[in-house]
Amino acid sequence: MVVVVVVLLVVVVASPWVPVAAADPQATLLNLGCSQYNATPTAAFLAALNSTFGELRANLSSGGGGGGGGEAGGFATAAEPRAAAPAFAMAQCRPYVTRGDCVACFDAAATRLRAACGAANGGRAILDGCVVRYESAVFFDQATLPGNTQVCNGSAVAGGGFADAARGLVGDLVAAVPRAPGLAAAAARAGVYAAAQCVVTVGEGGCAQCLEVAARNIDGCPPNSDGRAVDAGCFMRYSDKPFFPANATVDLAPYLRSGKSDRKGAIIGGILGGVAFLFLIGLLAFLWTWWSRKLLKPRRGDILGATELQGPTSFYYQDLKVATNNFCEESKLGEGGFGGVFKGLLKNGKTVAVKRLTVMETSRAKADFESEVKLISNVRHRNLVRLLGCSSKG
Ligand SMILES: *[C@@H]1O[C@H](CO)[C@@H](O)[C@H](O)[C@H]1NC(C)=O
Ligand SMILES: *[C@@H]1O[C@H](CO)[C@@H](O)[C@H](O)[C@H]1NC(C)=O
Ligand SMILES: *[C@@H]1O[C@H](CO)[C@@H](O)[C@H](O)[C@H]1NC(C)=O
Ligand SMILES: *[C@@H]1O[C@H](CO)[C@@H](O)[C@H](O)[C@H]1NC(C)=O
Repeated sequence: MVVVVVVLLVVVVASPWVPVAAADPQATLLNLGCSQYNATPTAAFLAALNSTFGELRANLSSGGGGGGGGEAGGFATAAEPRAAAPAFAMAQCRPYVTRGDCVACFDAAATRLRAACGAANGGRAILDGCVVRYESAVFFDQATLPGNTQVCNGSAVAGGGFADAARGLVGDLVAAVPRAPGLAAAAARAGVYAAAQCVVTVGEGGCAQCLEVAARNIDGCPPNSDGRAVDAGCFMRYSDKPFFPANATVDLAPYLRSGKSDRKGAIIGGILGGVAFLFLIGLLAFLWTWWSRKLLKPRRGDILGATELQGPTSFYYQDLKVATNNFCEESKLGEGGFGGVFKGLLKNGKTVAVKRLTVMETSRAKADFESEVKLISNVRHRNLVRLLGCSSKG
């Protein structure tokens, strides 16, 4: 009898997603602050505040403004602007906190605020699972405020790579969350769990601004296992342990892609702009060279010293001699005062009339000649032949 023993090797890959406790309001207190000024009249303010807190709690309980466990997290604002002492309040839960935990977290925050702030006309309690803030004036659009800070915890994670992975994921959240629905997202990658969330009412711009500050703050935490950044308008957290359920993660790619293509577009735009700029510089240099040559060339013999009026082209006497076949009788067109006029063919193929003047070689005569030529060369008239240039050398 043969006994075959079959050994089944079962490889159990332990899921890193330890089921998050059924009820976990994440009520760890991260930051608590109270205004140093008391509200007046105190009783009226406390009544108005109590009423706004009641509204917030009712809103979060009914899942208003996103609802706990939903994408945006529970979010509510409440105001008593017509009270004798107006009060404004806001509450927000993390997107991965269930509705029940959201209300429990709100209760914990409100209890801490009442106990710590008393009659102060403003206060905020930031917990892992939620944030509650109240003021005597509207503050719903405030993104980043002095007092923004980091809360680092845990010991350094052994093995390289964690700090880089944490910073990488934080960077992606900073880029993605301002465009993500509800201005919130949680994601996991390479053993890092991270989440970022903005107060809905700060909008995309305020969210981006606040998260940039938060990223700078939280940057001081790695390689420690836990880091948080807290501010008036946003919250950020990373850990080496999951603090949200697996189904709360959001694929950041769609919100990163547009950001990356924006960056790509900016780079391409920058390169094209640079090339265009260099081309423009080159063109200007070429035009300048061409223009200055064109201007300076006729001045080569600067016989006229023309400044206000544009001087004629200066020809070499030798060239004119060649053009008119040494001023031969066959090319003579006529005889005028002071000399004859000859037909000439320039090297560039232009047919011209050349008048040869005989002038007394005195400095006065030369000056007169030059000013006459300058004047004539600037005269344009249909009954006059245009003066192209002259030669006075030799
Ligand atoms: C605060 O409001 C609740 C209802 O939301 C009410 O039951 C309670 O008496 C109020 N407390 C004060 C001090 O006004
Ligand atoms: C809860 O608050 C949000 C934000 O202020 C508001 O949009 C929503 O209508 C409120 N829902 C309820 C049920 O009060
Ligand atoms: C920091 O770590 C200690 C010890 O594990 C813990 O008791 C405390 O609650 C942590 N603080 C935060 C803000 O997580
Ligand atoms: C996530 O899973 C839990 C059960 O683990 C469930 O109660 C909850 O509704 C799920 N949330 C979403 C957004 O699917």
